[in-house]
Amino acid sequence: MSIKNICCIGAGYVGGPTMSVIALKCPDIKVSVVDLNEKRIAAWNDDDVSNLPIYEPGLAEVVKEARGRNLFFSTEVDKAIDEAELIFISVNTPTKTYGVGKGMAADLKYIELCARQIARVATTDKIVVEKSTLPVRTAEALQNILHNTGKGVRFDILSNPEFLAEGTAVQDLLNADRVLIGGENTPDGQKATEALANIYSNWIPEERILRTSVWSSELSKLTANAFLAQRVSSINAMSELCEVTGADVQEVARAIGTDSRIGPKFLKASVGFGGSCFQKDILNLVYIAKSYGLNEVADYWEQVIIMNDHQKRRFAEKIVKTLFNTVSGKKITLLGWAFKKDTNDTRESAAIYVADYLLNEQAEVVIYDPKVSEEQILADLDYLNTRSEAENRALVTVVNDPMEACYNAHAIAIMTEWDEFVNYDWKTIYDNMYKPAFIFDGRGLLDTQKIVNIGFECYTIGKG
Ligand SMILES: NC(=O)c1ccc[n+]([C@@H]2O[C@H](COP(=O)([O-])OP(=O)(O)OC[C@H]3O[C@@H](n4cnc5c(N)ncnc54)[C@H](O)[C@@H]3O)[C@@H](O)[C@H]2O)c1
Repeated sequence: MSIKNICCIGAGYVGGPTMSVIALKCPDIKVSVVDLNEKRIAAWNDDDVSNLPIYEPGLAEVVKEARGRNLFFSTEVDKAIDEAELIFISVNTPTKTYGVGKGMAADLKYIELCARQIARVATTDKIVVEKSTLPVRTAEALQNILHNTGKGVRFDILSNPEFLAEGTAVQDLLNADRVLIGGENTPDGQKATEALANIYSNWIPEERILRTSVWSSELSKLTANAFLAQRVSSINAMSELCEVTGADVQEVARAIGTDSRIGPKFLKASVGFGGSCFQKDILNLVYIAKSYGLNEVADYWEQVIIMNDHQKRRFAEKIVKTLFNTVSGKKITLLGWAFKKDTNDTRESAAIYVADYLLNEQAEVVIYDPKVSEEQILADLDYLNTRSEAENRALVTVVNDPMEACYNAHAIAIMTEWDEFVNYDWKTIYDNMYKPAFIFDGRGLLDTQKIVNIGFECYTIGKG
């Protein structure tokens, strides 16, 4: 079966880049990306591609080439569903904030709404692909909704989790380590699997397209994120031990990363991982394990989150302790707000929690991030509900110039590993700060010796 028309529901960090790359590589397939969020769709359609709603290196160029040719962004969800032979569901699956499983389980209401909409609109057979990260056995629920429409339309459900990393999404999509497709082991299931595999085989080598059962595929995505986050928490645990023993976590990471059994990636100690996925997916995994009565399994993975929360908190505590146990009325500059470099995504960013802690201690917090807007930063703080919107605006200043951000500061905290921070004129920054001038390097980004030579008091995560 050769697919000519694709729809993707959800024009977010996954749907947008993923479909842009599919459209780029498959010019004969019409790709419609739809979303209920009109503002987001308008931004995807902005003539000026520097205004796309998502910042990813290389994405603007891909969109520029494919948009209007075979890539379309729209709010007409029904029309796109109706026309498509294959539908990706790429909507958000946040942690539940209410009812059973509150704070742990994935909230599947957006997924269910999509399934019901597909069931309502479809008049021809469809392949429905789970692109969102979902709890194992979600396809069963989708099947139940879709197969009971009574319209005689056939739906084949596939799981095709996305492994891209924000900040390198375009490269990850163009050159994926693997594409995973979970399908039913029936002739129709296999046919659907091959139809999707054929799309990817336009640019992904055949040996990198893995086929599994639906359940293995769903669980593999949660497992991948759990393993990645576990590496971060493991090296972060060692960072605290390095600090008290006089070791250097960057040296330890290099020493262990050269062991081919361990490997060098994801061994960077930091102020803690953020992003929309790691925490929610591990909490979801913990919830699933608990719901099967596997308490030891649940506790094992939950520790990854506990360690991460500890890392964020101890960084904030370190700032307060070092500044003579009070930051009240002191200007603390946060460089970086995005959860990592090369993205404008701030979901679960460590900076949010560190800022919140400092604001509770009545610091004046000044923030600079090269890609995150003031509106987003204030929305992130308001979302915590720790204090009123008016109080947040009174205590927080967001600026567009890093030198202005650091001017007259008592301390600077590096929250995101943006490359540009390395090359700032740190001597001038030092001259313009209160003394002693403190730097808290939450990413191990700066050359500590150079910074100390200028005159700064420097704390680098994981350096004894
Ligand atoms: N962000 C990542 O790096 C990443 C990586 C791999 C997998 N994932 C998974 O992919 C999924 C999507 O993540 P994201 O970061 O793209 O989320 P996102 O919040 O950026 O985008 C989701 C979009 O879906 C839209 N939406 C929700 N319900 C809809 C509906 N019924 N009809 C039309 N549009 C609807 C929302 O308006 C939103 O724009 C999640 O399950 C996530 O876990 C994310």
